[in-house]
Amino acid sequence: MTAVNIGIPRRSPLPDVSGRPADPHLLDRFGRVATDLRVSVTEKCSLRCTYCMPEEGLPAIPRALLLTPAEIGRLVGIGARDLGVREVRFTGGEPLLRADLAEILAATRAAAPGLPMALTTNGVGLDKRLPALLDAGLTRVNISLDTVDREHFARLTRRDRLPAVLAGIEAAREAGLTPLKVNAVLMRETLDDAPDLLAWALDAGVQLRFIEQMPLDADGVWSRESLVDAAELLAVLGRRFELEEVGRDDPHAPAEEWRVRSRGATAPATATVGLIASVTRSFCAECDRTRVTAEGSVRSCLFGDDETPLAPLLRGGADDATIADAWRAAMWGKQAGHGMDEADFHRPKRSMGAIGG
Ligand code: GTP
Ligand code: 5AD
Ligand code: SF4
Repeated sequence: MTAVNIGIPRRSPLPDVSGRPADPHLLDRFGRVATDLRVSVTEKCSLRCTYCMPEEGLPAIPRALLLTPAEIGRLVGIGARDLGVREVRFTGGEPLLRADLAEILAATRAAAPGLPMALTTNGVGLDKRLPALLDAGLTRVNISLDTVDREHFARLTRRDRLPAVLAGIEAAREAGLTPLKVNAVLMRETLDDAPDLLAWALDAGVQLRFIEQMPLDADGVWSRESLVDAAELLAVLGRRFELEEVGRDDPHAPAEEWRVRSRGATAPATATVGLIASVTRSFCAECDRTRVTAEGSVRSCLFGDDETPLAPLLRGGADDATIADAWRAAMWGKQAGHGMDEADFHRPKRSMGAIGG
């Protein structure tokens, strides 16, 4: 068995804030401003995708260390009111495995009224949970689905749950949650399924995005040489579809959009497919993300191991202004980018399942 790649992140002292202007927003040294907050709520997951989780799952975070709904609500409230956060996305692991997810949303809505609240989920069980989540104020979901071939799905996720995922997507569609985005990580073993997946997405009316795999797999087998990149995907899709690059609708969006239609179709192309080329066309210079881990630490970049724990402040009686200052300091220390193309690149100690996409 390979060692689990969650590691214990370095508990950094507060980053040096010399040179930081007196601005309330989450600025960094490279002129970026973080407005998109991603909060991981658990390390647990109902699937075991090979690009993310080890077969046996991640080591459990002791329950007492997980932020409570009230604590999450308070943090997001500080983010929205004092730091310029404009959207929050709950991730995991798999956020639906928090039995109190609706309470998390409700506490967040109470603390940050009007803030859009999204979820990134694998979709398993979403159909049953959706009514309560919508009542609690959920505004949007992104669902992960890498192939519509049941056997390939079972191999990649190590669980035979394709029907459950499709039921979750259908429930989100029926609930009218738009835009409804579906994320597919590009893997060699499912590359040939990509045209079928795109045909399914066009038919279902969901926005499919293909994602280059990043070195965030818990088993540590990622290699740049075996990466399926966006160019290779476009060649495979091109056999069945005509594709035309449109670009990004928002400069901070990770996905570049391509207009798509089936070869031989006569109607004008209206649908699009997204490409998130995090490795070959890095978008770090436009990054607007700030992350909070399930244990309440700020992580300024997916690929940085420096974490700034806010839980001791939250639980130690600190006021909102002190917590906001610690968060600002953490983001001021954000690195320029993932550095995957540099000789001294180090994989982060946490895998994707422990960071939350
Ligand atoms: P939207 O606001 O709906 O566009 O959400 P999103 O695309 O930001 O969120 P989602 O959780 O669906 O993430 C999609 C993919 O983007 C993930 O699978 C990651 O591969 C990638 N991604 C998300 N955040 C980051 C990030 O900060 N850096 C990099 N390099 N990739 C990211
Ligand atoms: N590289 C790129 N995307 C990944 N995801 C999980 N692991 C990786 C990885 N190694 C995606 C999931 C989900 C989102 C949160 O992150 O498919 O859509
Ligand atoms: Fe932002 Fe870091 Fe992701 Fe690059 S790798 S987009 S800097 S979070």
